[in-house]
Amino acid sequence: MDGRQGTFWGLGLGPGDPELVTLKARRLIQEADCIVVPKSSIAGESLALEIARPFVGDKPVLQFEFPMRRNERELAPYWAAAAAEIADRVGRGERVVFLTLGDCLTYSTYCYVLQELRKTLPESVIHSVPGVTSFAAAAAATSFSLGEKDERIAVVPVPRGDLGPVRRALEEYDTVVLMKVAKQLPAVVRLLQEMGLDGQAVFASHVSQDGEFITRDLASLLDNERGYLSVILVRRRGGDGR
Ligand SMILES: C[S@@+](CC[C@H](N)C(=O)[O-])C[C@H]1O[C@@H](n2cnc3c(N)ncnc32)[C@H](O)[C@@H]1O
Repeated sequence: MDGRQGTFWGLGLGPGDPELVTLKARRLIQEADCIVVPKSSIAGESLALEIARPFVGDKPVLQFEFPMRRNERELAPYWAAAAAEIADRVGRGERVVFLTLGDCLTYSTYCYVLQELRKTLPESVIHSVPGVTSFAAAAAATSFSLGEKDERIAVVPVPRGDLGPVRRALEEYDTVVLMKVAKQLPAVVRLLQEMGLDGQAVFASHVSQDGEFITRDLASLLDNERGYLSVILVRRRGGDGR
């Protein structure tokens, strides 16, 4: 690499539509020597790579598997392996980009890889480019006003077990964005019905991707499996924008 300084960029590529990839992320992909993508053992082909495909050309793509486990201790070796390979390439002068779905610093594996990279690479070669989050895209797709005036917005990942944290957020905040709904979808719908908020919510899955599905009829979701890759936006007050 002619003694060139290597660089590392984490790129948020938005929720799916290639037109929602920023010009900066697109340019960095086109200029990169190597593309790194997280690959979920369950989701199969990386969605982030699918979004970037039109810009990747024949560049080398390194896919790192990050199993769908919650235990940090079990996952740490996978993050460390990815970070070691990236640090090695950057050390050899390569421009490496790491692709993520949505925004790279919002509930992304990238955050963990970043922590590992900071142990070996200087801050000056590590950079991030923000992306359109899934919930910003869901709000845009439904013209759903997330916040007005002094309203408070909470972003809450739905826990696997007790929905207490979701209930408390719904009691306390004006707008609640529920992410990682997954198998808890029927339980979340029942909670919203119980709290009288189901009429003020919108469900959006696979936003800006093939198979996008959006509905305000939450009762229709009680017995189906649409929770994967979905968000629910809930607004306590009407809001001028709705
Ligand atoms: C690991 S987090 C990634 C979040 C992502 N970095 C972002 O900025 O939105 C995965 C969760 O994001 C949400 N998500 C990501 N992409 C989505 C999409 N296209 N449509 C709906 N929800 C999406 C879902 O709640 C999913 O469970």
